[in-house]
Amino acid sequence: MKHLKIHIVLLLCVAIFTLSQCKPEPKESNPPTSVGTPAPITPPVGFPAMNIPADNPQTVEGVELGRHLFYDKKLSADLTISCATCHEQFRAFSDVDQVSTGVNGKIGRRQAMALFNLVFQEEFFWDGRAQSLEEQSLHPIVDPVEMDNTLTVVISRLEADSAYPSMFKAAFGDTKINEERIGKAIAQFERTMISAK
Ligand code: HEC
Repeated sequence: MKHLKIHIVLLLCVAIFTLSQCKPEPKESNPPTSVGTPAPITPPVGFPAMNIPADNPQTVEGVELGRHLFYDKKLSADLTISCATCHEQFRAFSDVDQVSTGVNGKIGRRQAMALFNLVFQEEFFWDGRAQSLEEQSLHPIVDPVEMDNTLTVVISRLEADSAYPSMFKAAFGDTKINEERIGKAIAQFERTMISAK
C-alpha cells in the first residue's frame, strides 16, 4: 500500500513536470509585409480612430499598386470590368444604377456603395459581412455577378504582366503575387479615399 502511494506521488510529479513543459508558444503578431516608403494618413480633425491593421501599413508603393489594381479590367473574367466600373470616381466611387451590372451584363443584388472614409469603418458591405478591407477586396473578383473570376486566373495574369511583378516587389519586398498581397494593396488604396468638409 505504501509503495502504491509512493508510486502515485511519483506519477503525479512526472505528470506535473511534463505539463509544466507545455507552455503555450508565445503568440507572434504578423510582421509587417510591406517594405515601401511610409505614407501615413492624417485623419481630418474630429474623425474617429483609423482602422489600419498592423501588418498592412500604408506605403507609397502599396497605395500605387492598389490604385492600378482598382482600375484594372484584368481582374474580371472577360476583361471588361474593373472595380472602378461600378465604383466611379466622379460619383464618389459609387454607381448611379440601383443595382450594379457585372460581367456579361449580369445583374447584381445591390447598389454599389460610395467608397469613402473606409479607413474609419470596421465592417463592410450593406450587411457588414466583411470584417476588413483586405478581405472585402477579394469578394468582387470571385463574385459571379460582379467580376466572376478566380484568384488563380488573376494571379497568373498579373504574373505575366510587364509591370506588376516589379510593383509587387516595390510594395512587398519581392515579386511574389498572391491573394494576400492583392487584398492588402487594394485596401491601402481604398484607405486613402477620405472625404471631409
Ligand atoms: C459589378 C459591380 C461591382 C464591381 C465590379 C465591384 N463592386 Fe464593390 N460593391 C458593389 C456592390 C453592389 C456593393 C454592395 C454589395 C453588398 O453590400 O452586398 C459593393 C460594395 C463594396 C465595398 C463595401 C463598402 C462599404 O462601405 O462597406 C467595397 C469596399 C467595395 N465594394 C470595393 C470594391 C473593390 C475593391 C472592387 C474591385 C476588386 C469592387 N468593389 C468591384 C459593386 C461592385
